[in-house]
Amino acid sequence: MFCTVVGARPNFIKMAPVILELRRRGLPQILVHTGQHYDDKMSAVFFEELGMPNPDELLGVGSTSHAQQTAHILAKFEAVCLKHRPQLVIVAGDVNSTLACALAAVKLNIPVAHVESGLRSGDRSMPEEINRILTDHMAEILFTTEPRANENLQREGIDARRVHFVGNTMIDSLRAHLNAALKRQPWRLFGCEPHHYGVVTFHRPSNVDDPAVARTLAAALGEIVPTLPLIFPIHPRTQAQSNGVWEAIPGVRTVEPLGYLDFLGLVAQANVVITDSGGIQEETTVLGIPCVTVRETTERPVTVIQGTNRLVRLETSEIVAACLNPVKSTRTIPLLWDGHAAPRLVDVLEVFVGRR
Ligand code: UD1
Ligand code: UDP
Repeated sequence: MFCTVVGARPNFIKMAPVILELRRRGLPQILVHTGQHYDDKMSAVFFEELGMPNPDELLGVGSTSHAQQTAHILAKFEAVCLKHRPQLVIVAGDVNSTLACALAAVKLNIPVAHVESGLRSGDRSMPEEINRILTDHMAEILFTTEPRANENLQREGIDARRVHFVGNTMIDSLRAHLNAALKRQPWRLFGCEPHHYGVVTFHRPSNVDDPAVARTLAAALGEIVPTLPLIFPIHPRTQAQSNGVWEAIPGVRTVEPLGYLDFLGLVAQANVVITDSGGIQEETTVLGIPCVTVRETTERPVTVIQGTNRLVRLETSEIVAACLNPVKSTRTIPLLWDGHAAPRLVDVLEVFVGRR
């Protein structure tokens, strides 16, 4: 039996195609949700919209410090592994749930497969970078989304026979749901017309936890919004840290986090997306929408080299200039971001467990 693990918003979108493909092939699995994200708008809506089954085990860990959250997941996931004895645990991405579940499994000698291996920002002050490196070095099977990830893993001494370049399961979800998302015409909820608005998301601690940094970002949005209406679905972390800084920008439409379909539809018809998200850099590349990423580094270089992504420093004038003159790059779609990553990935899993 396989054990699939989800915990935070991007996990649902990356893992849904894998969960559904395992089910389509009649391969037994249990689905574990750690509960790292738990608000309906950060969790339940994705199960519903992506057609995922309800979790078999819900660990309910909630929000605390990094050490406590990781420790709670470790202890609770160990108990799940002892109860169900899965043959293989499948984790995705770079959140605390990914690291903790991988660690609990390998300590019980249960092999781990990591979806979205090998990405490296080179910035160890990011919690995600630590989670990625440690998870990759525990995993038995490593699935990569871009060739640079294979190079990173090779440089770190990971045996190339364990690494499989299968493409991007987040893009499987995008391709499966884009038509449904566009049909909802979510821009109408905000009184906007297609290609006459921008979408904003920020949630990285380096951008939202320090009030001075948040004020710099807010000033940039304030300068852009008279020219381009801005829609800003606010992540709960950003809300918790904000002290009202975002709502105070005249003209910016701040809302609660959006469901996957409304968010995808909005992004697909935007002029520009301003973000610090990992996954949104990839989605905008495939959709051909200019993306301004307010970060010093990216772990997803293919989105800059081949796609529509541009990194911008935390300077009000640079952010404004990049957003009002977005680069219309001649993008190409990265290799194997074709909507069929999950079937390729499950082929590898079937070989691993001796079904092929
Ligand atoms: C986490 C991931 C980050 C990922 C992001 C995706 C880690 C270390 N970080 O960051 O890599 O990009 O998810 O969205 O794993 N909160 C709620 N309701 C929820 C969830 C969170 O109110 O359903 C609030 C709480 O105040 C919590 C804060 O958000 O303290 C942060 O949540 P947490 O899961 O610790 O980290 P994120 O910033 O969401
Ligand atoms: N997303 C969403 N609603 C929102 C904002 C984002 O459905 O209001 C989706 C987005 O399309 C992408 C994923 O959430 O698929 C990205 O998650 P997030 O930015 O939280 O995490 P990261 O990718 O930075 O780890």
